[in-house]
Amino acid sequence: MKIVDNLRLQDIAFPESMLHEFKGPNFGLPGIRKLVGVQDRPLIGTIVKPKVGLTSEKHAEVAYNSFAGGCDLVKDDENLTNQKFNGFEKRAELTLKLAEKAEAETGERKMYLCNVTAPTCKEMIRRMNVLKDLGASYAMVDIVPAGWTAIQTLREEAEDVGLALHAHRCMHSAYTRNPRHGISMLVVAKLCRLIGLDQLHIGTVVGKMHGEKHEVLNLRDQCVLDKVPADGSQHVLAQDWGGLKPMFPVASGGLAPTMIPDLYSIFGKDVIMQFGGGIHAHPMGTAAGATACRQALEASLEGISLQDYSKDHKELEVALGKWLKK
Ligand code: 3PG
Ligand code: 3PG
Ligand code: MG
Repeated sequence: MKIVDNLRLQDIAFPESMLHEFKGPNFGLPGIRKLVGVQDRPLIGTIVKPKVGLTSEKHAEVAYNSFAGGCDLVKDDENLTNQKFNGFEKRAELTLKLAEKAEAETGERKMYLCNVTAPTCKEMIRRMNVLKDLGASYAMVDIVPAGWTAIQTLREEAEDVGLALHAHRCMHSAYTRNPRHGISMLVVAKLCRLIGLDQLHIGTVVGKMHGEKHEVLNLRDQCVLDKVPADGSQHVLAQDWGGLKPMFPVASGGLAPTMIPDLYSIFGKDVIMQFGGGIHAHPMGTAAGATACRQALEASLEGISLQDYSKDHKELEVALGKWLKK
């Protein structure tokens, strides 16, 4: 209507009867922890970089180095789908093979999150089935370009084929960011949990992503809590999730290993920390970048400063040289 200058949907409270119409996450945070076999620390992930331009062989090699260096998860970037130089099938096959090799070598579970985003839900479902046949545990989808109706169908299919779903929120800021107009990220996150994505990007507080600390923590609460209290000052309504499984919150965008102590004190253990440039731009290479992240996490968990821990951890020492603000 022309008379409306601005209108913003800030929050929705779902009543119990509506929650019963949706399944919520199939794996959710506890299911992902079981899948990865890690119960007591944040998960460390990366995004293969450069985001587009690598051949499938190169892509798989970067993923392998990330896994070998210590990443639990490796995901595609949001704009990598089925390019001529890096087709979906070939990338999935080669990368999953090297994930398996890294599992055998490290004794840790290694997850590859291949992006199934495609024109039409039919094609996304076909790609999920390709992943299942290749032995994958996960699929990743760009939820905004794919659209809510497709996401609901993919949620059903993911359960049928036994895949966990990683939700990338790219393009959300086109309607979440203007404080006077659009739909808030809080609503996006709540719809994701209702429909049943297993993990979702929520912002970083530190790093390059937009979003104040209280906004990001509100998103985190909607991901992990069963009962979210109302907060009038932030326009947050009370929400009882009625036992719907929690989603794993993902912090990703512009993060470096040096930010891990801050990330840990902001988010605690239940977060997936993802580093793109913060791993692959390590002066000693991708594997060392992943190792530096694991070392920075070990230091944070043990309450040791990165400077002290770096004295006998070379990869971290080099990372501090590159990323620590002088
Ligand atoms: C997010 O966390 O939503 C984005 O992944 C940031 O993605 P970009 O670094 O590829 O812009
Ligand atoms: C993402 O998809 O989350 C980003 O591409 C993160 O990449 P960055 O760590 O290099 O910003
Ligand atoms: Mg990205």
